[in-house]
Amino acid sequence: MAENTLILGLQWGDEGKGKIVDNLSESTDIVCRFQGGHNAGHTIKVNGDKTVLHLIPSGILHQNTKCLIGNGVVLALDALQKEIENLKEKKISFSNRFFVSSACTLILPSHISLDKVKDKKESIGTTGRGIGPAYEDKIGRRAIRFCDLGQPEILKKKVQTLVGYHNKLLENLYDHDTHDSDAVFNELMEFKDLYEEYCVDSQEIMFEWINNDFSILFEGAQGTLLDIDHGTYPYVTSSSTTAGGVSTGLGVGPKFINKIIGISKAYTTRVGEGPFPTELFDESGALLAKKGNEFGATTGRPRRCGWLDLVLLKKAIFINSVTDLCITKLDVLDEMEEINVCINYENGSPIYKSFEGWLTKTEGITDFSKLPEKAKIYIQFIEQFVKCNASIISTGPSRNQTIIR
Ligand code: IMP
Repeated sequence: MAENTLILGLQWGDEGKGKIVDNLSESTDIVCRFQGGHNAGHTIKVNGDKTVLHLIPSGILHQNTKCLIGNGVVLALDALQKEIENLKEKKISFSNRFFVSSACTLILPSHISLDKVKDKKESIGTTGRGIGPAYEDKIGRRAIRFCDLGQPEILKKKVQTLVGYHNKLLENLYDHDTHDSDAVFNELMEFKDLYEEYCVDSQEIMFEWINNDFSILFEGAQGTLLDIDHGTYPYVTSSSTTAGGVSTGLGVGPKFINKIIGISKAYTTRVGEGPFPTELFDESGALLAKKGNEFGATTGRPRRCGWLDLVLLKKAIFINSVTDLCITKLDVLDEMEEINVCINYENGSPIYKSFEGWLTKTEGITDFSKLPEKAKIYIQFIEQFVKCNASIISTGPSRNQTIIR
């Protein structure tokens, strides 16, 4: 059996998954997304050229790799169209290598309105992309799916019912403008070309790929602590960001996932509201934000920064059965005189172990033995605490600034 690898975030998202997926997808036949939507933002830098992907799997940048958006993803067709156009401008080809599950739930403009008005009351700090309301409709068994574009008459009725339902909520609960269901239907039909070109029965092609021994990379979005079940509820996203999400979001049993790479920054960040026990409000936090360029790839919002929380990391490694740890953005710590990691909690407050900073440049180092001794001590402590080897360490944003052990 070919080796199939899952890559997922172990924190609150933005761990640098895009770069690692991009690195590994060169030697992988297929890359699949299984959850989330265009709330994600994966930044990849190749030869100084930056590409930000929100929906399309990061494998698209390698021309021999096929890409699939699985049924677990909520799909905004306008965002997908824009992303395809941008990539085509960079001479990326899509024919016979890009597929979207017919069972994807579609995000409608009324989902976006609901997301924004709800967040004003609920203060989760969502990305405002309609993700939560779209997943609500999926679970409520009233969602519009990608396959519905194939039956316009039926679609029209479904849109009338769903947008009618959204309008009642918008008007009565939130005193907000409503949406015209005919306009929503017409807008959806403008994406008929996407349906004709890319819509597939993903269960069927997954079955074929697995049985033909293709190697598959499953690309997670967001992170474990944002998981709807295992995250810091209610300050979470609305999908299963953890390993279990692969099986439901693509229709692949767990025995076909052989390697699980969990990604963590060398420190911690979070966008939006919610608990963050190791958050820093001092100069160290500001230094991490500046050096790490900690602004959301999707919304541009500044990310909250803090020390690495090994208690949470250990739990995330367990939840996902992580086999390999990947530590990213080590170089961001280069100028820190002192580095802390949380190793316990007492009355809800983090207890830290302190390390001396290495105060030397690690950016671009590709060989573990060339790291400063103090950086090695830091990495080795993390490995011992969480009982998992750090087999990949990222020392900069570019493809080649990576240590593989
Ligand atoms: P939603 O996914 O837009 O509903 O947002 C719910 C929470 O997840 C908010 O705190 C967002 O900031 C966070 N979130 C969603 N997507 C990402 C991501 O890709 N990176 C980091 N945080 C995210």
